[in-house]
Amino acid sequence: MNVGELLPRELDRFEREHPRSRELAERAEGPLLSGVPMPWMIRWPGAFPLFAAEAEGARFRDVDGHEYVDFCLGDTAAMTGHSPEPTVRALAEQAGRGITLMLPSEDSIWVGEELARRFGLPRWQFALTATDANRFAIRLARELTKRPRILVFNWCYHGSVDETFATLENGAVASREGNVGPPVALDETTRVVEWNDAEALERELAHGDVACVLTEPALTNVGIVLPEPGFHDALREATRRHETLLIIDETHTICAGPGGYTAAYGLEPDLLTIGKPIAGGVPAAAYGFSAEVAALLEELLPRDEKADVGGIGGTVAANVLSLAATRATLAEVLTDEAFARMIALGERFEEGVADAIERHGLPWHVTRLGCRVEYLFRPEWPRTGSDAASGADAELDRFIHLYALNRGILLTPFHNMALMSPATTEADVDLHTEVFAQAAAELSA
Ligand SMILES: Cc1ncc(COP(=O)(O)O)c(C=O)c1O
Repeated sequence: MNVGELLPRELDRFEREHPRSRELAERAEGPLLSGVPMPWMIRWPGAFPLFAAEAEGARFRDVDGHEYVDFCLGDTAAMTGHSPEPTVRALAEQAGRGITLMLPSEDSIWVGEELARRFGLPRWQFALTATDANRFAIRLARELTKRPRILVFNWCYHGSVDETFATLENGAVASREGNVGPPVALDETTRVVEWNDAEALERELAHGDVACVLTEPALTNVGIVLPEPGFHDALREATRRHETLLIIDETHTICAGPGGYTAAYGLEPDLLTIGKPIAGGVPAAAYGFSAEVAALLEELLPRDEKADVGGIGGTVAANVLSLAATRATLAEVLTDEAFARMIALGERFEEGVADAIERHGLPWHVTRLGCRVEYLFRPEWPRTGSDAASGADAELDRFIHLYALNRGILLTPFHNMALMSPATTEADVDLHTEVFAQAAAELSA
C-alpha cells in the first residue's frame, strides 16, 4: 500500500487514542501563540501535539496514559536518559544552596578540567545553550581575526545563530527558507560550501575575509552526512593556511563518544562548542579554546573593562545550578562505560533497520554515528547536505513518525533519528526494529 492510503488510518488512530492531549491542545490555543509554548512543538506528526505527563530513563508517559520508548530524547538534550539519578541528586543538593549568584563555584573548575581532558582543548567558558556558545565563539573569532564573515556547510544547523541560516541557491548564498526576520542579507555575513567539497572550501577561504568555519564534524541535522576520508585533514590544513579559525560544534556529535567526534578521530579545532546533554537536559553549554587561541584572547580582551556589554556571557550563564548538574552528568552519567553500551545499542538498532530495508527491498538506507542512528528514504549514502535534503520525503517522514508513535515509539520530529541513552535497553531497540519492519512490510505490500 502507498503512504497516501496508510496515513489517514494512522491519523485517525492517533486522534482516537489521545483525547486528553486534544483537550489540552484546544485549551493551549488560548494563551499560547499557535497553541504551543515553542514553535518547534508544532512539528509533531499528529493533528495536535502530544502532551507529556512524566519521563524517566528512556521512557515517558503522555497525559492519556500511553507509555513510549523515547528515541528522540529531546533531540539530544536528554541523551542521558530522562532525569538521571546523579544529575537529579546534584540538582536537589545545589538548589537548596543557591541557584545563581554571578560568582564562580568550584564545580566550574572541575567541569573545565573534565572538558579539557575529554576534548583536548585546555581553556573553557560556559553559556546556557549551544546556540549561545556558537554565537559567542563566532564573536570571538571575528574579534581575533578582524574579518567579517563566517563559513558554514550547506544544510548545517547550529541553533538560532543568524549567520548560519544561509544556503546555496544556484551557487549563490541566500537566506534559508523559513528564516524569520534576518537582520541583514545572508551573503553579507556568510559563505556557504557543500560538505565534503574541499575545492569549494579552498575557493571561498581564498577571499581572505572568513573569520571562522563553524561546522559539526559530521552533519547531523539533515540526516547524518559523514566526512569522506581526508576531508577533515583538508579542512584543517586550509583553515590554518588561510588563518581562519576552525570551530567544531560537538552538540550532537558527542554521540560518537565521551570526547565527541573530536577525541574519537583526533581533530584539532581552534574552538569547540557543546550544549544540550552535558547537564542532563538542564540548560548548560560550554565553549573551549586551544592554548593558542586562549592566549591571543587574553592578550586582546581586557579582563574587566566593559566586560558586561561585550556581547558575550549573560546574567544566568555559568550559574551554579547548571554547573552542579554538568559535573554530576559528566562524572556519573555520560561515562566511558555508558558510551560503550550506548554505541553497542546503536549498532543493534542499525542492524535491525538495515535488515528490514533489505528484506522488504525498499530503496532506503541507514547510517550511524556512535549512538545516533538515522534512516533516509533514498538508496545512496549522501555526500553533501544537498544530497541528503533531496532525499527527504515529508509525507513518508510523517507516516513513519506517526506509525511509530501509535505503537509506543518516539523519533525526532525533524528527520528519522534515533538516539540511545544509558537507560535504553536491547528490548527497546528490538521493539523499534519490529515496528519498523511492520511499517516496511505494509509499505511494500
Ligand atoms: C549541532 C547543533 N548545534 C547547536 C544547536 C543548538 O542547540 P540549542 O537549541 O540547545 O541552543 C543544535 C540544536 O539542534 C545543534 O544540532
